[in-house]
Amino acid sequence: MIITTKNNRQVSLRRLKSNDLDDLFDYLQNLREETKRQFGPHRFDKQSIIDFYTYSDLHLGYIACDMETNQIIAYFIIKTGYLQHDAVRLQSYGMNPDDKTDCTFAPSVADAWQSCGIGNQLFHFILSDLRSTEINRIILWGGVQMDNIKAVNFYKKNNFKILGKFTHNGENYDMYFDISKPQNA
Ligand SMILES: CC(C)(COP(=O)(O)OP(=O)(O)OC[C@H]1O[C@@H](n2cnc3c(N)ncnc32)[C@H](O)[C@@H]1OP(=O)(O)O)[C@@H](O)C(=O)NCCC(=O)NCCS
Repeated sequence: MIITTKNNRQVSLRRLKSNDLDDLFDYLQNLREETKRQFGPHRFDKQSIIDFYTYSDLHLGYIACDMETNQIIAYFIIKTGYLQHDAVRLQSYGMNPDDKTDCTFAPSVADAWQSCGIGNQLFHFILSDLRSTEINRIILWGGVQMDNIKAVNFYKKNNFKILGKFTHNGENYDMYFDISKPQNA
């Protein structure tokens, strides 16, 4: 799928393929340290990236590529199911996490491309992919730091709801998105 960003650039949105991993490594290396800290589903060395996709068919990557340079400029992860180590916390909000119908989500956009509309569009691209599966809920990967205003706004804008709060390296929200509900509900 091809989109035009707010800064008038043509960008393609698609699933990550096995031959994208070198480019993905370059993308991750170029993120600012703060962005790396905010986005942490896997380590950023090449072997960790390869292992993440080789040893689990639960992990799906989605990317946005600048059509002028072919560089990856955004990388979102969907993991089928929920994170075991978050289960007790999720249950404490009254949620019953389910490995078949839940998935876990982590987004990142290259620093120079943030706030250009790519996050919104890649999220909607992923949603249209997930709507043909039995997954009906998206849970944030390890929550979001409350002081990460851009990300909190991004989730709220896209109709994620707050489940609760927890403390880990500061204050965080756990949030989820209900796929089965109309988006403006
Ligand atoms: C959070 C992130 C994925 C959003 O993607 P993005 O491409 O920058 O976001 P978009 O341009 O599509 O904007 C989507 C919404 O996010 C919010 N947003 C975006 N830029 C913002 C800014 N500079 N200040 C405040 N809110 C902002 C707005 O609500 C915006 O909706 P609007 O444009 O209709 O007002 C991206 O900024 C990012 O990768 N941040 C660093 C890594 C990170 O924090 N990941 C999440 C960890 S939990």
